Amino acid sequence: MRTEDLHCVKVEKGRGEQVRRALKELKLLRTDAKITSNHDYIYLPLMRALKAVESEEVGVTEFLTADFAISEPRRSIEDIIGFSPAYEIIGDIAVLTGAGDSITETNEQRVAHTILNLHKNIKVVAKRISPVEGVYRNRKLKILAGENRTETIHKENGCRYKLDPEKVYFNPSLAGERNRVAMQVEHSKNELIIDMFAGVGSFSIQIAKRAPQSIVTAIDINPDAIRYLHENMELNGVRNIEPIEGDVSGIYMKFENTANRIIMNLPKSAYMFLREAMCMLHPEGGMIHFYTVEAFYPAKGGKKKSLEMAIEITKAKVTAKLKEFCDEFHYQSLELQEVRKVKPYAPYAYIIGVDAAIASAQKSVEF
Ligand SMILES: C[S@@+](CC[C@H](N)C(=O)[O-])C[C@H]1O[C@@H](n2cnc3c(N)ncnc32)[C@H](O)[C@@H]1O
Repeated sequence: MRTEDLHCVKVEKGRGEQVRRALKELKLLRTDAKITSNHDYIYLPLMRALKAVESEEVGVTEFLTADFAISEPRRSIEDIIGFSPAYEIIGDIAVLTGAGDSITETNEQRVAHTILNLHKNIKVVAKRISPVEGVYRNRKLKILAGENRTETIHKENGCRYKLDPEKVYFNPSLAGERNRVAMQVEHSKNELIIDMFAGVGSFSIQIAKRAPQSIVTAIDINPDAIRYLHENMELNGVRNIEPIEGDVSGIYMKFENTANRIIMNLPKSAYMFLREAMCMLHPEGGMIHFYTVEAFYPAKGGKKKSLEMAIEITKAKVTAKLKEFCDEFHYQSLELQEVRKVKPYAPYAYIIGVDAAIASAQKSVEF
């Protein structure tokens, strides 16, 4: 390691932290140099010799010069391989997403090992080898470097999720959306919430933790997702979730007229299950968090309009569908409280989230 002879101050250990902070605030501390100490004193490296007024302000009187070890600036992945590969992090697994770069078979090993070397918390590097597919919405991965496993524990919004991205759906980029929905559930309320497509519990666990008096019914057709959901309840110490394995279209009647809030995160086919959702909604009404994929391919030059139009199309489609069901199930009020882009899906296509507040006129519902 490189060393440098630097100006420094000598301070009694008891005052070391206070003086370090003051020097840092005044931008006088050499932050790339390693602070040294002995039994009684700490030696703080400086950018330069202090002026009298500065030493008075910081409260130091002993100055000297000494050798300090200098840490080399961290090299970025771009410095090493010449570009920044796109990857997402699920627990301790980095998954190359292949978006916007050209990782070839010949350089993917180098990319994977560089990620492992740069990030000590990453233990596996994999790449996507299929899109999210099938009823379970999972995808195939190929391990490129590190440990030979795809199971991990992902930490998000104060919760821990054990999962295997090859066996179940999980998208770390939805952390903000899950938090937004969870924050709508009041801590003190006792809602009955149905998570129709719950996966490993990524919405359910956070909500159940936040609102211990609420009950979340978490349904998923994928047995692996439900197995992980049970484990995740243990991991997070929550008991107010009822995990149910099965196809929601064969189960929903059991929950007829019960739910104050319904989460429908199955964007590719959510419209197909809206009737089931409406059937499960409480007779007084409630909130439906609905996700769908919408695209708008603009004519040349009209690129800016794409998202705006996709949102407008979603509003029109969801309103038409829900109005139809409101009539059938005797609800008098429908309000789309939020319609917004959750994330991009493909060029000119987006996952759009809708918060639909539905109420009967007999009793107005506070959402
Ligand atoms: C897009 S994932 C969402 C998972 C979870 N809500 C999340 O945000 O991580 C959709 C989930 O719905 C499940 N699923 C698909 N069709 C279903 C059905 N008919 N009944 C119940 N679950 C279903 C899949 O197994 C998958 O776990």
